[in-house]
Amino acid sequence: MKTNITLKYNELPIYDIILEQDYNSLYHELNKLDTKNKKICIVTDTNLSKLYLNQLMEILKDYAKVVETFTFPAGEAGKNLDTVYLLYERLIQSNFDRKDILIALGGGVVGDLTGYAAATYLRGISFIQMPTSLLAMVDSSIGGKTGVDFHDYKNMIGAFHQPKSVYMNLKTLVSLNDAQFYSGLGEIIKHGLIKDAGYYVWLKEHRDAIKARNMETLYEMVFRSCLIKQAVVEKDPKELGDRALLNYGHTIGHAVEKLMDFKLLHGECVAIGMVAASFLSYKRNHIIKEQLMDIITTIQSFHLPVSVSGIAADDILRVTAHDKKMEAGRIKFILLSAVGNAYVDTTVTENEMLQSIYYILNQQ
Ligand code: GLY
Repeated sequence: MKTNITLKYNELPIYDIILEQDYNSLYHELNKLDTKNKKICIVTDTNLSKLYLNQLMEILKDYAKVVETFTFPAGEAGKNLDTVYLLYERLIQSNFDRKDILIALGGGVVGDLTGYAAATYLRGISFIQMPTSLLAMVDSSIGGKTGVDFHDYKNMIGAFHQPKSVYMNLKTLVSLNDAQFYSGLGEIIKHGLIKDAGYYVWLKEHRDAIKARNMETLYEMVFRSCLIKQAVVEKDPKELGDRALLNYGHTIGHAVEKLMDFKLLHGECVAIGMVAASFLSYKRNHIIKEQLMDIITTIQSFHLPVSVSGIAADDILRVTAHDKKMEAGRIKFILLSAVGNAYVDTTVTENEMLQSIYYILNQQ
């Protein structure tokens, strides 16, 4: 089973998203980029370097002039300009020029940081996304958003820079710990809720196989989520309109993530944020109580949190208001018009937001 997805902008193919179960087809992508006379630097983190780096270097050594590696400590704490600085230093010391290539081997942190370094080194060099986490496969590796955090402001510094290809080996999903795996499910449930009610139902029906990490089921799930992400980013590459729908659950989710000092995973915070946004959608009479309850049960059934404690409602509101997703001083809130359909709402009042925050604080 193998299907590539070709991502296009203005009808022009830009790059392929390749779903594989090993790294054996990587040479196709390398040939397309004519890498034999180029240097490649694999950027990865301390966890992944133990798992896949040797295997990848073994493949790459026949397809590149030089293969370098740059490894940084795993986790959100390393996603900053200090790490980018060290990466620039390495590239300069190794004489990387504009035709050379970076490979991001890892989850969202590695992909975003490598993409940002690729976007800015020598005003932009090529890079390949090789996502190894579920979240990176279905979300962050696709669509060209790159960036790093600045102090505790998430993704504050960044650029749009499209990869030359996105190559995923779905077998890497087997080595993810449960928390990382289910964190990805947060974004996947989001895809169903904002774009495809049938997919949302499919996720519920295939819950056991997904949780058992059945490869065929994971393949179909990742494929369907990638198609949703592809359709959204193709239509609105720079988030001038509908791409903002992908931020469903992120407005309050980001505030929770920040206030919890990044102790909760991104997908976990998105899950909590989706409960708040679904509650508001219910309060606005877009969905009925049973649908709200079903969303909560579904999120919980994938071992994701639906509530948070230890932070104050006022703090969540304050941080949410400072979130960068504002338009003319109003929060851009993503609400459901129905299960499977979302829209941008700029009329959500502070009082409504507080109600939704109390809802996630009191939800048990
Ligand atoms: N992760 C949201 C986006 O790519 O727009």
